[in-house]
Amino acid sequence: MFTNRGGVAVITLDHPPVNSLGADLRRAIVDALDAAQNDADIVGVVLTGNAKVFSAGADVTEFGTPRQLQEPILPTVIARIESSSKPVVAAIGGLALGGGFELALACHGRAALATARVGLPEITLGLIPGAGGTQRLPRLTSLEQAAAMMLDGRPRTAAELARGTLFNAVVEHDEVGAACRIAQELAASGTALPKAGDRTLDAASVNEFVDAQRAALSSKQKLQPAYGALLDAIAATSGPLEEGLKTERACFLSLVSTPAAQALRYQFKVEREASRLPDAGPDAAQQTPRALTTIAVIGAGTMGSGIAIALLDARLDVILLEQDPDALARGQARILDHYASRAKSGKMSEADARTRSERLTTTLDWAALKDADLVIEAVFEEIGVKQEVFKKIDAHARPGAVLATNTSYLDVDAIAAATSRPQDVLGLHFFSPANIMKLLEVVRGAHTAPDVMAAGMALGKKLGKVAVPTGNAFGFIGNRVYNAYRRECEFMLEDGAWPEDVDKALTSMGFAMGPFAVADLSGLDIAWRMRKAQAPNRDPRTRYVDILDKLCEAGRLGRKADAGYYTYTDGKPSRQTDDVVRALITDARERRGNPVRSLSAEEIRRRALLAMVNEAALLVAEGVASRPSDVDVVMVQGYGFPRWEGGPVHWAKQQDRAQLLKDLEQQVSAAGFGSAVGDVGRLLGE
Ligand code: NAI
Repeated sequence: MFTNRGGVAVITLDHPPVNSLGADLRRAIVDALDAAQNDADIVGVVLTGNAKVFSAGADVTEFGTPRQLQEPILPTVIARIESSSKPVVAAIGGLALGGGFELALACHGRAALATARVGLPEITLGLIPGAGGTQRLPRLTSLEQAAAMMLDGRPRTAAELARGTLFNAVVEHDEVGAACRIAQELAASGTALPKAGDRTLDAASVNEFVDAQRAALSSKQKLQPAYGALLDAIAATSGPLEEGLKTERACFLSLVSTPAAQALRYQFKVEREASRLPDAGPDAAQQTPRALTTIAVIGAGTMGSGIAIALLDARLDVILLEQDPDALARGQARILDHYASRAKSGKMSEADARTRSERLTTTLDWAALKDADLVIEAVFEEIGVKQEVFKKIDAHARPGAVLATNTSYLDVDAIAAATSRPQDVLGLHFFSPANIMKLLEVVRGAHTAPDVMAAGMALGKKLGKVAVPTGNAFGFIGNRVYNAYRRECEFMLEDGAWPEDVDKALTSMGFAMGPFAVADLSGLDIAWRMRKAQAPNRDPRTRYVDILDKLCEAGRLGRKADAGYYTYTDGKPSRQTDDVVRALITDARERRGNPVRSLSAEEIRRRALLAMVNEAALLVAEGVASRPSDVDVVMVQGYGFPRWEGGPVHWAKQQDRAQLLKDLEQQVSAAGFGSAVGDVGRLLGE
């Protein structure tokens, strides 16, 4: 229950792995507090966790179940702590998040290790703190600091945060000892125990601050109800604590079942699932991953240098190999400049930047591959070039080394066939910029060994990425779905929408950019080249829109040419497409000869989403995606699909089933794909 340390009851939260505050732990805390209260030898209480976590907060698996509301609920536990007649002090050695941090905020004092991290990340789940965080944190720090923490949800180290009322002590070691001393001092002082509610905030300043924050919310934030609710709760800090707590609770409860909160919870869950290989299907034979510490990256271009940074950030040794000395020098400079500027801006310590830079070696000599546990190829996207490179890798890499290609579209099996060891080959599809984008598609070839697949997934985890297993199909999961989406958007141009109508309809639901703005940014010639390569295999019965090809023929290659779908002045796009583009689109509409009408934003969104849903169903039916939810993870992490919409599969699940099927059938047959609608029942979990 507790241990008596010189008259202080030390209550250690013990609910592995992260001390989440489920019904049992909440009960145990209250029981231990009662026992301490009734023990005459005890003058104060210290609440602590372990070296890793104090408490990571609410038990997400209880969300939406009766256990979440089983007494004592968290606000009851917290009220019990705050009203204790013996001082209660939190000793935070590791992570204190959400409800865990709120527990600490209700204590009469707090001691933390300098490295302990605290935060209120509820906003990332579409919620706000619901157990006093919005009311106590502003009172214990400042409005500015508290609002910043709750708006971005990012944990801060105790060392970063204000001392004084938030932390009575920030120590290098023995936070429990420090907390015991604070408890004893409070008990001996004979004065009333300090509480967050002792401080009132000036109403005029609170209102002014909240108004400014409201005005500063981004358009994305305005699409999610939690941001507005958070500011409503912060506005209530100008009154008595009790009133504020009521307002906070009402705001919190109003959010729990919003579609945004449900979708964000869903993403939280399926992201974790995606990173585990499924127990069934081709990855069922799970094995211990091959160990990877020294990694060779071939090709020092955009991707190669980004991948190298991602690896160096994970404290791995990197050998960067090129065929071209100038490209090697440029790649090396990009990496070293990256670390120099991180150090200069204070985002990384000088020492950290130096050790990472020192782990990089560069070479033009293929013999250097002999030291690598993993080789990642990121050379030009041409099958002949890749096969040549893999022949060389095969000649130089040690037996058992994992061999990976970063190809976006090419056949991993055709690449593996260039080696004598296809079982060691897989795809590791990074996204650009590779050191920033979280998504990693781990591509299983026909011969990829289970421990190689496992090694790819483990690498993703080590790099802090969301790794998603995928089969070896053209475009894997992400580019396949994205292509289907873009194709439908092109159809809509011929049917009567202008590019800006389509882009606006999609950004207004939260996509960072619309498909035509994205196409301009990546360069239209990339898609043009691929279309030309695919032309011989194209089924003439399927619908094909040639607007992009015509734009490229006219030299409008996108942003780099200052003209694509849009025109660009100093890199800024025009709000509307110009006459040249409109004439091209009008010509395409006339050649098609179908009636043209304007499309509503709702219709545009529905068609775009249906296209993704259909492709998702095909991917699941083909076994390329192991789980329907993996498609959602890929689209959210790699393609700017708004996280609070959950992803295309999650969206489909919210729709009327019969109508969805009818619309899908109709859309697919209009595209000339016959009735090749994917297995939607399986996709939606029936
Ligand atoms: P890039 O053109 O920037 O870099 C390729 C580099 O490979 C060049 O520096 C070149 O000198 C080097 N190289 C070419 N042949 C070589 C050989 N035989 N031996 C050693 N080095 C050689 O290309 P980027 O954009 O970095 O793309 C590389 C790969 O990554 C491609 O397969 C691409 O499809 C894939 N990819 C690209 C993404 C992007 O957004 N750029 C995203 C995801 C994958």
